[in-house]
Amino acid sequence: MLPCVGEPYGSPAPVPSTTWPGEARSKAVPRKRFLGSAVARVTEDGEWEVIHRAEVTEDEWLHLVYRDETWVTQIDGSMVEGAHGTVSGAPTSSLTLPGLVVLMLGAAGISDVDKVLEVGTGTGYSAALMCHMLGSHAVTSVEYNPAVAGRARDALTAAGYAPTLVTGVARGSRVDPEVLDDPAGLFAAQLAAPSAVRLGGGDEAVLWDVATGSLAVTGLDPQGGWTVRQRGPLRLWDAVEAAVLTWQAAGSPHQSAYGLTVTREGQYVWLGDPNGPSWDLPI
Ligand SMILES: C[S@@+](CC[C@H](N)C(=O)[O-])C[C@H]1O[C@@H](n2cnc3c(N)ncnc32)[C@H](O)[C@@H]1O
Repeated sequence: MLPCVGEPYGSPAPVPSTTWPGEARSKAVPRKRFLGSAVARVTEDGEWEVIHRAEVTEDEWLHLVYRDETWVTQIDGSMVEGAHGTVSGAPTSSLTLPGLVVLMLGAAGISDVDKVLEVGTGTGYSAALMCHMLGSHAVTSVEYNPAVAGRARDALTAAGYAPTLVTGVARGSRVDPEVLDDPAGLFAAQLAAPSAVRLGGGDEAVLWDVATGSLAVTGLDPQGGWTVRQRGPLRLWDAVEAAVLTWQAAGSPHQSAYGLTVTREGQYVWLGDPNGPSWDLPI
């Protein structure tokens, strides 16, 4: 049977005093499944020593996997599996040290009724811990690197977890998505992304351009404010955000203030005056 977080194997992971996720610390969410076949650790010179699973004994690998240590899995956007010996560069993805993951989850005060959005799936290990505690239905995790995301998905599936995984950048939204629930705000937004269908509402707005598959999904940021994830060739929320901010900066005028100028080169929406605040209306 494999050791898990908090169980001694090699250098033991310190067990934080948090009560969350005590169960995950005592039952198997095997870290081994999330590590792939190579890891990197920093050298005294600030470079990276790559260790391949095939180059060490099973026992050495397990000692390494279950140390309370962060293992770098990607450097400068390249998975370390493709590297050998010592390499230089900046770490871009890693398997966070389990003691810290457990501490963070405890500090976040997540309870079993919560839904969790994780930004940065990485190896999928922390998402697996959350799935173990809350159920996969409660966990959404976003990862912007496709190679990292693909591997996390495989690892989570193999471990029996099925959180909602999204590949895409979550960034802060500069406008409250609820502006789309206001007819005047929606009017401005429609004149920025006219091809988009709106689904959902409130903080969780979904804009979908069926022709291109472009998608924008907003949500509440646990740190305050809102997030948006976008994918596809049309950056729907970028366009909506810019138009809504322009409209709000002009004092959120009534629909009667709108005008439209169409030229051979393009068309633009303006407020109050053709030389007033404006934005392009996609053709
Ligand atoms: C430290 S690793 C995550 C470790 C992970 N929680 C685990 O348990 O293995 C950080 C990850 O966040 C991803 N990332 C960083 N900024 C992001 C963003 N704005 N949106 C989505 N993913 C992001 C990186 O590609 C990287 O894989």
